[in-house]
Amino acid sequence: MTPDTTLESPTGTNGAPAEATVSTWRMRRWPEPRETRIPAWIYSDPSLFAREMEVFHDGPCWNFIGLECEIEERGAYKRSWVGTRSVIMVRGDDDAIHVLENRCAHRGSQLCWENKGVVNDFTCPYHHWNYDLEGNLLGLPFFRGAMGKGGMPRDFDKSAHGLRKLRVATLGGLVWATFSQEAPSLDDYLGEEIRELVLRATGRGKKLRLLGYNRQLLPCNWKLYLENSRDPYHATLLHSFFLTFGLLRTDTAFRAVPTLGGRHAIMASTYSAATAGQQNEVTRELASLHSDFTLEDMEVVKPVDEMGDSAMINFSVLPSVFFQQHGNSLALRHLLPKSATQTELAWTHYGFVDDDEDMNRRRLKQANLMGPAGYVAIDDSEVLARMQPVADSAPESVQVVTMGGVDLAPQETMLTETLIRGFYGYYREKMGL
Ligand code: FES
Ligand SMILES: [Fe+2]
Repeated sequence: MTPDTTLESPTGTNGAPAEATVSTWRMRRWPEPRETRIPAWIYSDPSLFAREMEVFHDGPCWNFIGLECEIEERGAYKRSWVGTRSVIMVRGDDDAIHVLENRCAHRGSQLCWENKGVVNDFTCPYHHWNYDLEGNLLGLPFFRGAMGKGGMPRDFDKSAHGLRKLRVATLGGLVWATFSQEAPSLDDYLGEEIRELVLRATGRGKKLRLLGYNRQLLPCNWKLYLENSRDPYHATLLHSFFLTFGLLRTDTAFRAVPTLGGRHAIMASTYSAATAGQQNEVTRELASLHSDFTLEDMEVVKPVDEMGDSAMINFSVLPSVFFQQHGNSLALRHLLPKSATQTELAWTHYGFVDDDEDMNRRRLKQANLMGPAGYVAIDDSEVLARMQPVADSAPESVQVVTMGGVDLAPQETMLTETLIRGFYGYYREKMGL
């Protein structure tokens, strides 16, 4: 795995290039029937992208920021993102976790340039304004000028010029933040079902252990990846690895559940040793099944049922995080929009402090399914990279999402696009489209 060095946003404020001032999307109409159609223009319009950042990422939503165990000691920090805005997650003198906008209150320089570290305070590289771990302005050079000249006005109030502080909440050892004062509590934002799954995925009070990071830049709009993470239909068709080694099959028990009107999404499947590798009506449909393939090391595809429910549950929390459980590989996929046509994917792999050596090895081995070159995840990146130019070249073209019906009811099959319909129902409402 690579060291954690999340990528810089290639664009400016809100990721919106200069030409984004013309809001072409406001003149467009969503195609009918609205519930089952998606227009391609939503994937490449910079002005629409800027609005999405305002509505979802900077808006009344809770954003995943990082793990508490990444900043254990006082002054330990990690840089993260809320949409296209850089933030710093830091352990304060009071031992509390603070999330601060990574933007100097003086003239807006990026304050912290490293991705991780331990500091006593933060000093801006530009004119050396200095802030404590809670983002309060401590001091600035030449406050009273020099040789009787210059300096700040007498009434300059340092307490009014600190870093912007986000609202912070923690759940299951994970740190969340929002710029919005209007956002409901984190619990209400997640809803009961997702809250329960966050606790399940984080070991119900166990202490998390960081295992490592992957990251990659995807040349596609963030919603193409979000759709992909809510799309069980493709899982056994595109990902021949899943099917070949029996980790996921179309005939296993499966639930696709949109929650809170499509805001979040749950995909739960049951791993069955009995059906793994078995040929039947389902497998004959699948051109990608190579049933005679084998692996040198089968531990990669032999999970232990650590949660005691034989389930693999993957779920996504709008706007930016996907909880992944593939066998014993646990990870958070952080979806970081960079521009209308570029998205970073930052994976944080974790386990638990009380894992034994066998479990730790299994988690690391099975993590090979994920990441930029993962046995499974690589397929998604390839497909999405090839979708983006098609969307760019034909913005008036329309996608169809009618697999499994036309509504957003929960379904007990992988052969459904109900989670994608659910997301776009929610998206259109919030965007006014
Ligand atoms: S911009 Fe940070 S000190 Fe001037
Ligand atoms: Fe996929």
